[in-house]
Formats: sequence, structure tokens, C-alpha cells
Amino acid sequence: MEQTINIIKELPSIFNQALAIINTLMEMILSVLLAFGVISGPATDDPITLKDAENVNLAVVAFADTHIRPTGISPYNLECGLKDIDNSEINFDALLIAGDISELGDDISYELMWDSLGEAEIENILLATGNHDVRVAYDLRTEQIIDKTGSFLGTEIDKPYYSYDINGYTFIVMGSDGRLFEKAFISDGQLAFIDAELERATKDGRPAFVVCHQPLENTHGLPEVWANGGIGEQSEQIREILVKYKNVFFLNGHLHDGVYENSLEVLSEENGVYSVNLPAYGKENDYGKFLQPGLGTYFEVYDDEVIFTARDFREGKSLEGYTKAFTLIK
Ligand SMILES: [Fe+2]
Repeated sequence: MEQTINIIKELPSIFNQALAIINTLMEMILSVLLAFGVISGPATDDPITLKDAENVNLAVVAFADTHIRPTGISPYNLECGLKDIDNSEINFDALLIAGDISELGDDISYELMWDSLGEAEIENILLATGNHDVRVAYDLRTEQIIDKTGSFLGTEIDKPYYSYDINGYTFIVMGSDGRLFEKAFISDGQLAFIDAELERATKDGRPAFVVCHQPLENTHGLPEVWANGGIGEQSEQIREILVKYKNVFFLNGHLHDGVYENSLEVLSEENGVYSVNLPAYGKENDYGKFLQPGLGTYFEVYDDEVIFTARDFREGKSLEGYTKAFTLIK
């Protein structure tokens, strides 16, 4: 009996050791494939470009659903994306990842992620928690992800949600206040925080960015694309807060919708409030015109407009027809 209990206690460490061995094998196989040119990094003939690099106020790369796992090709995909950013020679102000950083919520995957992000030459890294991150070990993973974000940003974060200003523009990053399997629980405290931060952030007419892993209900093809895919019970309260303010951009992941006409949604025409669905970076997407892994978005902020562009960062290719400019409401 005692022996059985000991074996059960050791299972997590055996699991982690097995993952570590598989990860080492994967890295060896990838390095051989790279050496023989079977796979290669992103192309360099179609680099990321900005409309006006001299006058841009803020430039940000936005990924979601990286789903890093030690046993697949996802770490390589991420390395390609970071290389594509590097190849552009644009000094992006931030990289944000809108949740589902890891597939399994295991230690090795986060270590791979932190190693890659640590090497990225981007000043600010904003991380949101996703359901894959926190649905098993909610307290542990929430604390780990916000701590890591705090260390990337050089600040202290003490809640699953936070806000951070870059070049005078505010990012409000949401996170579930409790453990749910797919959806998020947004507490009254978090709702009040979003409301107060948006009031502060938008009062001078500047756009503000709200990042959340899950989308609002009835946006981006919901519920048809995924009957249970929305954020959950607080969706309407969040929407009511967002549309009160001018020039608000809500960015979500979670759906694994690729890039297509449903990627952008108008929440308030009058106030210029939009929802932007970020495709899954680490996995094949399920709906849309472009479905491949490695898809992401970058956006540029100017005095009078915000421009979003979808891109295949793994291959280093722009997605023609998927650049959208939003004129800011005065
Ligand atoms: Fe996901």
C-alpha cells in the first residue's frame, strides 16, 4: 500500500521527466531538419512594414493561443514569429499574448516560453491568462503568469488583471477571477477597475486597448462557431462598460478562428468601439480564410487612426486584404 502511495506521489515528477526527454528529442529532430533545410525560418522578402514608421506613436504585435507544449513544433513556431519581428527592424513597443500561453499548463512549457520571450528584443511584454493556463492549477498559474508579466514590465502586479501604460496609451489586461473550465469569471472589482481605467485612459481622446482571452458573447461568429465559446455571465456588463467610452479596442483570442471577415466586430459605431479577434498562433485554426498556425496581428497607433494588420509571422508573409484602418473619434 505504502509503495502504491509513493508511486502516485511521484507521478507528476515522472510526467515532467518524460516531457523533458521528449522535448530534448524534439529539439534534436528540429535542429537536424533545420540543418538540412527541410524546414526553414520565416521568409525575409516580405518584412513587416508600418504606414509611417517616423510618426507612429505606438506599434504592437498581438498574438493569442500560443499553446506551447514541449512535445510539438509550437516552440519552433514561436521562434519563427520572433525572428520575423526581428527581421523587420521595427522597434515594436510591445508584444502581447492574449492567453492560452501553454497547452497543458505544465512547468516545461512555461520555461520554454519564458526563455523565448527573454530573448525577444521587445521592451514590453504583456501576458493574459487563458483557460488552458489556469483551469487546473488556477492559483499557481495565475500567480506565475502575472509575476512573470510584472518582471517583464518592471512593475508589481497583484491581481489576475492589471493595466499598463506604454507611450501614453493604456492596456487593460483582463483575467478570470476564478477557476472555470472554458469561460472566465469577471468579479465586480474587476468590472469597476475596467470602468475606472477606461475613463482615465480615454479622457484625452486617446484610444485604449482591453485584452481578454475570451471573446464577448455573440461576437466573431458566436455562438455558431462555438456554442460555448464566449466569456460567460459578465459579458453584457463588460460590453456596457466598453461602449461608454470612445476609441476602445477589445482584443480577444480563445476561438481559434483564423483570419476572415468575422475577425473584426463593431461594438459601437458612434463611439468607435471595436472587438478584434486574434487568431490562434500555436495551432491550426478552425474557421476563416487563413487557418495555418503562426497567424497574428500587429497594430500601429497614430494621432488620428489605428491600423490593424493580420500576418503569418511563422512564414514571414502579409495577408493581403487584411489591413484595416480605424479613424479615431474626436
Ligand atoms: Fe486556445
